[in-house]
Amino acid sequence: MSTPTRIGVDLGDRGYDIVIGDGLLADAGDYLAGFAVARVAVVTDETVAGLHLAALRSSLEAAGIEVVEVVLPPGEATKDFSHLEGLLDQLLAARIERRDMLIALGGGVVGDLAGLAASMLRRGVDFIQVPTTLMAQVDSSVGGKTGINSRHGKNLIGAFHQPRLVLADVATLRTLPRREFLAGYAEVVKYGLIGDAAWFGALEADHADLLAGDGDAVTAAVAASCAAKARVVAADEREQGQRALLNLGHSFGHAIELEVGYGADLRHGEAVAVGMVMAFDLSVRLGLCPPEDAARVRRHLAAVGLPVGLRDIQDAPWDAARLAAHMRQDKKVRDGRITFVLARGIGKAFLSREVDPAMVAALLEAAVA
Ligand SMILES: NC(=O)c1ccc[n+]([C@@H]2O[C@H](COP(=O)([O-])OP(=O)(O)OC[C@H]3O[C@@H](n4cnc5c(N)ncnc54)[C@H](O)[C@@H]3O)[C@@H](O)[C@H]2O)c1
Ligand SMILES: [Zn+2]
Repeated sequence: MSTPTRIGVDLGDRGYDIVIGDGLLADAGDYLAGFAVARVAVVTDETVAGLHLAALRSSLEAAGIEVVEVVLPPGEATKDFSHLEGLLDQLLAARIERRDMLIALGGGVVGDLAGLAASMLRRGVDFIQVPTTLMAQVDSSVGGKTGINSRHGKNLIGAFHQPRLVLADVATLRTLPRREFLAGYAEVVKYGLIGDAAWFGALEADHADLLAGDGDAVTAAVAASCAAKARVVAADEREQGQRALLNLGHSFGHAIELEVGYGADLRHGEAVAVGMVMAFDLSVRLGLCPPEDAARVRRHLAAVGLPVGLRDIQDAPWDAARLAAHMRQDKKVRDGRITFVLARGIGKAFLSREVDPAMVAALLEAAVA
């Protein structure tokens, strides 16, 4: 195994490391040694439990750490109040105390839910993220946003609770279905579109190894993504300003997710891919972005097999007014105005609260046509 890559998230006494490598699960016990913890509760889902829990468990037990398991059903529908309640109840029944730790082993669903439970259990216990999807490795495991969904929208209930460590074992991605991998890839592309045109250019030119799951290529992409996210989070932990750039494509994306339904057959990254295309199209309509750049975004996402329009997601009719109403429900709304992430070109994203709602309505009308 090559030496793992280590990236620091510079948040003072809440700071932590992200460790990325091929085969890290087997060394998890060693990585936990520094925390002097005697018991951990590993929270995971049924699918991940069947594939990767045994490896984590034996590594922890070999390090003398007692393991309690909580296995949840897989899928976005698990990110709700009833599962949060059930999880907290199981953790209390297992007498997980403040000096114990939670480990979130799984994708963004497990990470967001277990992280929120960790923030609440006995007013806060430490937790470690062990992300097993590309989405979770490049995005959701880093930055401390935890939460569940509400019928009013995604992630509307939650807390900021930073993990103490992120262990991203790229070997776990070898069991990830292609579709899930691609959904995570949308967020990898996102970092290039926000602030790193060279990174986007590199992905455009050379993504075959990465999409084929080559360990070094995946490690490099996860590291580049985590470094980009860690920089933004360190500068703006609670999203008072620049962290909102990470929401490129997400206002549109969340509206699409709310419309299609969380339990349905739509991945978050797929909604974000369509949302990023829309954000670039909006930027072009506003005269801010060269049309060639928007065309490159659409072309690359389509080339790898991600959806780039509403009809790539579902054939059923879409309603522009409903999508617009969903967008106004988003967390990024203040005084009724949506904070949009726009772009002056690839790698040149910026925030704007000045977008004329009529322009958005026109874009949505065109998108549903
Ligand atoms: N907190 C944040 O900052 C943040 C950022 C981005 C996304 N998110 C959230 O993350 C969630 C999406 O995360 P996700 O895409 O990881 O979804 P997910 O957790 O639902 O995982 C996707 C599917 O893959 C399965 N799976 C996980 N790891 C596997 C593996 N190694 N091999 C085989 N199957 C595996 C899971 O069981 C699940 O069925 C959304 O709820 C989104 O809101 C949060
Ligand atoms: Zn996202």
